[in-house]
Formats: sequence, C-alpha cells, structure tokens
Amino acid sequence: MQNQITFQFISEPSDVNYGGKVHGGAVMKWIDQTAYACASSWAEGYAVTLYVGGIRFFKPIKIGDLVKVSARVIYTGNTSMHIACDVFSRPITSDVKYIKTTHCVIVFVAVDENGKTKPVIKWEAHTNRELAQEKYAKRLMELRKGIEEEMKPFLEDYF
Ligand SMILES: CC(C)(COP(=O)(O)OP(=O)(O)OC[C@H]1O[C@@H](n2cnc3c(N)ncnc32)[C@H](O)[C@@H]1OP(=O)(O)O)[C@@H](O)C(=O)NCCC(=O)NCCS
Repeated sequence: MQNQITFQFISEPSDVNYGGKVHGGAVMKWIDQTAYACASSWAEGYAVTLYVGGIRFFKPIKIGDLVKVSARVIYTGNTSMHIACDVFSRPITSDVKYIKTTHCVIVFVAVDENGKTKPVIKWEAHTNRELAQEKYAKRLMELRKGIEEEMKPFLEDYF
C-alpha cells in the first residue's frame, strides 16, 4: 500500500506575500493538501486534520520556483495517521538541487460518512530511516501532551 505521495508544481504570482516571496499561508495549504492526499490514500477514505504542529520555515521560496511537497505516513495509531511533510524548492531555470524549505508533522484521523473516527491499517516501519521516523512521531506525541496541558486554559471561551 502506498504510504507516500509527492506534489510538484511551480509557485505562482498569486502565492506572493508582502515581501515578494511565497506566502506562508500558501505553503501551509500545499502541506495540508499533500498530507490529506497521503492520509486519505492510506485510510482508503476520508480523513480530517486533527493536529498541525511545529511548522518550521527554513528558507523562503521564490515566485516561479519549482516546488516539491512530499508527505509520508511515519506512524499510525488506531484511527490516527502521523504524516511527515517536507517542502523543497529550486529555481526552474537551472539544474541545481532542491533545498528543503519547510518541515512539519500533521496528524490526520480517518472518519466515516457520519464524521465518526474509524480504524486505519497499521503502518509498519522496516528500514532504519522508517524506524527513526516512527520514533520521532512517538516522541512528538509525548511532547504534545505537555503542550496540550499548557493550552488547556485557552481552549475554552477564555477571551
Ligand atoms: C478529528 C476528530 C474527528 C477527532 O475526534 P475525537 O473524538 O476528538 O477523537 P478521539 O478522542 O477519538 O481521538 C482520535 C485520535 O486522535 C488522537 N489524538 C487526539 N488528540 C491528539 C493530539 N493532540 N495529537 C495527536 N493525536 C491526537 C487520539 O490519540 C486518537 O488516535 P488513535 O485512535 O490513533 O489512538 C474531531 O476532533 C474533529 O472533528 N475535529 C475537527 C477536524 C477538522 O475540522 N479539521 C480541519 C478540516 S479537515
């Protein structure tokens, strides 16, 4: 079963931010779309975004650059799928290597037609890289517990 997917396209003038480069919101949309395609393929059905954590923008992307967005399942729970996303870009006119511009892990949950969570097929890590990624996903899950605890007072209608 396919556990990864890659989108490739050219960043467009409509993706621009106020500084002339690609808008962070455009990058987040590409990440969500690619991760959604990956998660729903794995779930063989509809899946919704449950958590997006720690998006790190390393480098800006120029308008007109070739963009590659890669998403892969790195861990599955009972109903959740943890998807690692990486965004790369390079000038389209030269034969230079892609550089990584953004990274994050998104958690999706498989849902049925009534929006109820449903089980997914277990992703099994085999290679050293996959095992390291699975460990990374589990570590992030642990760290998130602390973050959720800190967020608790602000999750209610606080303001
Ligand atoms: C996603 C949603 C269906 C989950 O429902 P829920 O009743 O809160 O889910 P559950 O408590 O049953 O948990 C579902 C899974 O999420 C996991 N989960 C819950 N909180 C989590 C967190 N902070 N980080 C990672 N995983 C988390 C649970 O561990 C469980 O995974 P598992 O079955 O693999 O063990 C519900 O929260 C929802 O509809 N949210 C809105 C989704 C949405 O609109 N997204 C944006 C547009 S797509």
